[in-house]
Amino acid sequence: MNVVLLGATKGMGQALARQMAARADRLFLLGRGASSLEAAARDLEVRGAAGEVGVATCDLEDTSTFEPALDAAFAALGHVDVVVVTAGLFATQDELEADPALAERITRVNFTSTVVFCEGARRRLLEQGGGKLCVFSSVAGERGRKPVVIYGASKAGLSRYLEGLDHKFRAQGLEVITVKPGFVKTGMTAGLKPPPFAGEPEQVAAQVLDAIDRGDPVVYAPAPWKLVMAVIRHLPRGVMRRVGF
Ligand SMILES: NC(=O)c1ccc[n+]([C@@H]2O[C@H](COP(=O)([O-])OP(=O)(O)OC[C@H]3O[C@@H](n4cnc5c(N)ncnc54)[C@H](OP(=O)(O)O)[C@@H]3O)[C@@H](O)[C@H]2O)c1
Repeated sequence: MNVVLLGATKGMGQALARQMAARADRLFLLGRGASSLEAAARDLEVRGAAGEVGVATCDLEDTSTFEPALDAAFAALGHVDVVVVTAGLFATQDELEADPALAERITRVNFTSTVVFCEGARRRLLEQGGGKLCVFSSVAGERGRKPVVIYGASKAGLSRYLEGLDHKFRAQGLEVITVKPGFVKTGMTAGLKPPPFAGEPEQVAAQVLDAIDRGDPVVYAPAPWKLVMAVIRHLPRGVMRRVGF
């Protein structure tokens, strides 16, 4: 596969890119830091990625970087099979309630900017006749929950956008894969107490790679979160108000 990844310098994106490299996929990396992008590219080449792994700067906090970065990636790969977006930001509900600027930043990066980036990817994938768009949202977007009111809202908006995109364009060859991780042990969650069913990035990456190959529209990862969220989705509002999760 020819794959463009935004967010492969760390965490689940890095684990996914490494598994793609190990099966000799061709990769092109987008991200905000030139030196971390270069380091990630060289690492992926050593791990078996086909040819040279190209890079271009793309910062979710600067929408003017999106079009040049996508142009560079599509030009370098020729045909793109998959665009993967794992980039995103997290902060605790306490941090977000105390800092309106941070709340604005997280909602903008996780929702508005990610949608604008995906629109650029969507246009290009459709122009070449189709392809796959795999985007990391979160189980936090499934219900309004006390510990993730603001972060969860940003992911809820993203999940709805991706669902609509899949409904509208799948018949034209654009397969949208929405990944809804539960708690996964990465830099993003460092310092937080892992709940039951907390996952490792490599385990999630393997599950996501299978889902990309199959074109599954929604992936809960690690898998037990599918059942957990089925229960949480059906809890009455009165119960949600009383519980603390
Ligand atoms: N970990 C969890 O428990 C969990 C649960 C549910 C959903 N998720 C979602 O899953 C995705 C991946 O999470 P993760 O835990 O793997 O995160 P992570 O380890 O913190 O990695 C985040 C990635 O996003 C990139 N990034 C951050 N801000 C960016 C920006 N402004 N422009 C471009 N790239 C940017 C980072 O690049 P740099 O190297 O430049 O920092 C990094 O590559 C995120 O969307 C997250 O919200 C995570």
